[in-house]
Amino acid sequence: MAEDLIQKPQQKIQSIKGFYDILPEHTPLWFKLEDTARAILSQYGYNNIRMPIVEATDLFVRSVGEHTDIVEKEMYAWTDVLNGDKLTLRPEGTAGCVRAVIENNLTYNGPVRLWYSGAMFRHENVQKGRQRQFHQIGCEAFGFESPEVDAEQIVLLARLWQALGIKDVALQLNSIGDAAERATYRNTLIAYFEKHADVLDEDAKRRLHTNPLRILDSKNPRMQTMCEAAPKLMGGLGEASRTHFEKLCQLLQQAGIAYSINHRLVRGLDYYNRTVFEWVTTKLGAQGTIAGGGRYDTLVERLGGITTPACGFAIGLERVFLLMQEYGVTANNVPDIYLVNVGELAEQQAFSAAETLREAGLNVVLHAGGGSFKSQMKKADRSGARYAAILGDDEVAAGEISLKPLLQAGEQKRCKLNEVRSFIGE
Ligand code: HAM
Repeated sequence: MAEDLIQKPQQKIQSIKGFYDILPEHTPLWFKLEDTARAILSQYGYNNIRMPIVEATDLFVRSVGEHTDIVEKEMYAWTDVLNGDKLTLRPEGTAGCVRAVIENNLTYNGPVRLWYSGAMFRHENVQKGRQRQFHQIGCEAFGFESPEVDAEQIVLLARLWQALGIKDVALQLNSIGDAAERATYRNTLIAYFEKHADVLDEDAKRRLHTNPLRILDSKNPRMQTMCEAAPKLMGGLGEASRTHFEKLCQLLQQAGIAYSINHRLVRGLDYYNRTVFEWVTTKLGAQGTIAGGGRYDTLVERLGGITTPACGFAIGLERVFLLMQEYGVTANNVPDIYLVNVGELAEQQAFSAAETLREAGLNVVLHAGGGSFKSQMKKADRSGARYAAILGDDEVAAGEISLKPLLQAGEQKRCKLNEVRSFIGE
């Protein structure tokens, strides 16, 4: 066995299609994205919740909807061989969040604002901005009926784009009414599509009686004119839905947020009513939606809780990350100091010198493993550190350390360890 291992080169195991590593060169920008989002969510009073990645399959079937792309063909679902449970890797966060709210009685003391982040899984065709494992930051508010919360979430996102340095993201808005209004509209739409059966593609024919609203969303160029001319739900909204939508539009205008009403925006998940929205960019090709959400006032009840209005959204983090890169936003993790140590005595003292500097609040990379002064200085340069701190026999004897600026020209200087912080500044 041991011999086998030595003689045969072992085959490398590769990551699965659509599943990616986020490499260290990119994590500083991810931190910038996540930290900025976290700070803004706190400003708006949202509290973090962490749900499991695996949930009962039924949760998604009953919330996202049986006749959606996600449930029909994109879920990583399996039967646990140990006990027969039907399980699914979460394709989105709203369903799990609603389950957690009900299970833990989180609205017992009144409305709550929650946010979560993490990996989601959908077995989709892979392309730029579309992975099988991707990450979202999601936000859900429970117990608020009025459109202030819809507006607040949209404005929060506008603030995020601005803070991240990304521009030209457009807001698309629609109201898909309440269940009864949608049921009437559904019949109108089926009748309209049946009249244009010759233009419908296979996908549209399949959806005609299960999910006709989704046909409006079709990207098929042959169906565009027909979809554009389809009857609009907005005209059939009742008083309450219409007022809700008008108030939302007013609040957005008040906040100076531009939007366009897209009558064909219905979203790919079944739980929505009234408000639906998407933030869209033209900079990422076909996968231009960087965040989407809306109201889902009946979902809590449908999943066994007491009637609780709700509204939320999720941001596609990979897409926002790509957009940040597109706009030249950068971030890096620059150490303050790379600690070079040459000579037996210096090598012995370097470890504790590094700790002393860290104690003073500096980010210090300790050169480990010896080597010549020249090779250590090369590594210091490559580390991106602002300064090389040099500990040699001379310095040890004098109880000092030498500092050489690496990012800009400047003299090498010597100082006491406890003076380094003030010497190099923040
Ligand atoms: P969603 O529109 O399915 O909504 O996903 C939200 C965002 O996640 C999308 O706009 C997109 O940016 C990103 N996304 C979706 N699929 C992929 C993928 N395969 N690869 C990369 N990014 C992707 C939801 O998930 C709802 N739970 C949002 C919500 C929360 N509604 C109410 N509350």
